[in-house]
Amino acid sequence: MKKVYFGSNLKMYKNIEDTVKYLRELTELTADISREEIELFIIPSYTTLDRATTSVDRNLVRLGAQNMCWEEQGQFTGEISPLMLQEMGLDLVMIGHSERRHVFGETDEEENRKVKCGLEHGFTTLLCIGETAEEKKYDLGPEVLRTQIKIGFDGVDASETGKIWVAYEPVWSIGVNGTPATADYAERMHAEIKKCLIELFGRAGEEIPVLYGGSVNPGNAEELIVQPSVDGLFVGRSAWEADKFNDLIRMAKKKAETARD
Ligand code: PGA
Repeated sequence: MKKVYFGSNLKMYKNIEDTVKYLRELTELTADISREEIELFIIPSYTTLDRATTSVDRNLVRLGAQNMCWEEQGQFTGEISPLMLQEMGLDLVMIGHSERRHVFGETDEEENRKVKCGLEHGFTTLLCIGETAEEKKYDLGPEVLRTQIKIGFDGVDASETGKIWVAYEPVWSIGVNGTPATADYAERMHAEIKKCLIELFGRAGEEIPVLYGGSVNPGNAEELIVQPSVDGLFVGRSAWEADKFNDLIRMAKKKAETARD
């Protein structure tokens, strides 16, 4: 069976103690699920990473960083270097989350520099992409996603695709004011993303997991995960209590298995 991906970005929530408690609970609750069948990853805030990496069983959960600078060192006040993340034993980095792009104004060119830097330093690099509500209104989703993919992965070689993950997170679907994408719409965009990845990387592009994120909840997780082009769920609010995320993971995994049998 194909691995199903489940992850959460904790954004700017949870202090060190709460993060460690959450990760311990989550790993205990999900310990019986084979990691051959799921990839479970959590992306907590920077300040928690040092303790988190030494406090939980990393065979059960992969930890990642929410952002990273494209340089190893220098005059970049407030930034975090790939070497600093490596020092903590991290090998996963998220680039271009919607809030980075739309609250902090990051551009596709900047995401590209970060993606290349992440890959050069051996990180599994999760690039987030997604169209805004206005772009969706004009049905520009496919064009926007293609642009974000083509610029985001510019200069990346097909031999590096083993370390690339993509998350499709439409801007209008994220957070408390978000509306979840319908399963049909998500599938349409995911299929477009996969087509574009194959155009860029050839057959190697087929292997890149594409996760859906944006108001994933217990009511829509099953219909999303059974879509043929959806390889996993990237969950915010509905994942931030370990027992609820555990329930969602089990429910979606079961559904994915029955659909793929
Ligand atoms: P949400 O967040 O599930 O709370 O909408 C998703 C995300 O930002 O990754």
